[in-house]
Amino acid sequence: MLSNQAADPAKRKSLHGHWSSRMAFILAVTGSAVGLGNIWRFPYIVGENGGGAFVLVYLACVVVIGMPVMMSEILMGRRGRRNPIATMELLGAEEGKSPNWKVVGAMGVLAGVLILSYYAVVGGWTLSYVLKSGSGQFANATPEIVTSLRDKFLGSWSTVALYHTIFMGLTIFVVARGVERGLEQAVRFMVPALLLLMVVLLGYSIASGHFGEGVAFLFKPDWSKLTWDMVLTAMGQAFFTLSIGMGAVMAYGAYLPEETSIPGSATAVAISDTSIALLAGLVIFPLVFANGMDPGDGPGLVFVTLPLAFGQMPGGVFFATLFFVLLTFAAWTSAISLMEPAVAWIVERFNKTRAQAAVAIGLLIWALGFGTVLSFNVLSDFTFWRGTIFDNLDHLTLNIMLPLGGLLIVVFAGWVMCRNSTADELGGSGAVYKLWRFLARVVAPIGILFVFLKAVGLLPEFS
Ligand code: PHE
Repeated sequence: MLSNQAADPAKRKSLHGHWSSRMAFILAVTGSAVGLGNIWRFPYIVGENGGGAFVLVYLACVVVIGMPVMMSEILMGRRGRRNPIATMELLGAEEGKSPNWKVVGAMGVLAGVLILSYYAVVGGWTLSYVLKSGSGQFANATPEIVTSLRDKFLGSWSTVALYHTIFMGLTIFVVARGVERGLEQAVRFMVPALLLLMVVLLGYSIASGHFGEGVAFLFKPDWSKLTWDMVLTAMGQAFFTLSIGMGAVMAYGAYLPEETSIPGSATAVAISDTSIALLAGLVIFPLVFANGMDPGDGPGLVFVTLPLAFGQMPGGVFFATLFFVLLTFAAWTSAISLMEPAVAWIVERFNKTRAQAAVAIGLLIWALGFGTVLSFNVLSDFTFWRGTIFDNLDHLTLNIMLPLGGLLIVVFAGWVMCRNSTADELGGSGAVYKLWRFLARVVAPIGILFVFLKAVGLLPEFS
């Protein structure tokens, strides 16, 4: 009998080993959460959606929807101790309900595969900027130079594909070796270092003379910009940046030691993730205004603003290289977690080794990645629905699959699982538990559903 099949949830063990400590788990989930979503996507999405109003909606989503979903994922993972598909099947049956809840796990596995197919392309883009900054290409560069460097990079599909391939190779390598080995150490160093470097950049940004303008753009809401499509995008960003709604956190929760506090861990992760995103915004927007650029510039925003800033500061070559190395690391630890649900599923379901599973899934994701590689060059005019292949993948996964997955996950934890099971995992039925349960049963499901229906125009307009 497999050791994760014990009838008593407290005695179950994951087949993939457990985190060595509570800190190791927090670090791993932080490594998953902090990534391109904070530093690459957050600023450009805020820019495209007009600033402050978007940021406030995003923050509200993190607190009232993100937190309960994250806690639900961790508690379900730890109780099931299996991959997300098998965990939902087991818990569904155990609670006397349907094992078909496993479909939610399957949708998460699929979302992870699709997200990583474009995430790895941007990860490769970051990697290529390590070399560009290291070779001094940004030194004293003008906005025209950095823009043309970016356009030249994106314009060459073979270069984009090359770096995408290297990035996927690195990801497959770590996932094949097992999640704990190496990851703990990498994150322990990376997150504080990234934070420190952002603070250095913040100093530079304050000195740019346009700091006030940046702060106003980021935090001063212009409610006329508010549309339901924008609220959906803000909610999708909250899911994406916290790594929730697709089972990554559930998969990591399966390796969580019994005694660790789930609310405490989730709060620590959400605070560090949100601070890094806000810091990225505070660094980037003053630079955008100082250089007379357009905040709605799109996915290339950080790849233009930061090289420009580094190019003008003393020691810029060193700082720029270090920054892109750290960002590549951050993207890497997130990519690993995007693959983990699929890999854990293949290992458990088909009795394969981690290496076999990682290579098989990795190759599939690598191939799918070409849809995004080509979106910026050869197929940039091939548009439908939301735009290029990349735009569609982004919208489908982040704004639809993650919130839908999150909705079904909170409904599962809040309504399908009985009070005893969830209270058992969340450390008793005190005030924190009551708050979680209210958010998970009422606020989060209604909130997600409402935004969905509004965004597709199924509910009448207020005004
Ligand atoms: N949260 C990661 C980021 O912000 C991306 C991610 C999403 C990772 C979903 C895992 C699961 O970059």
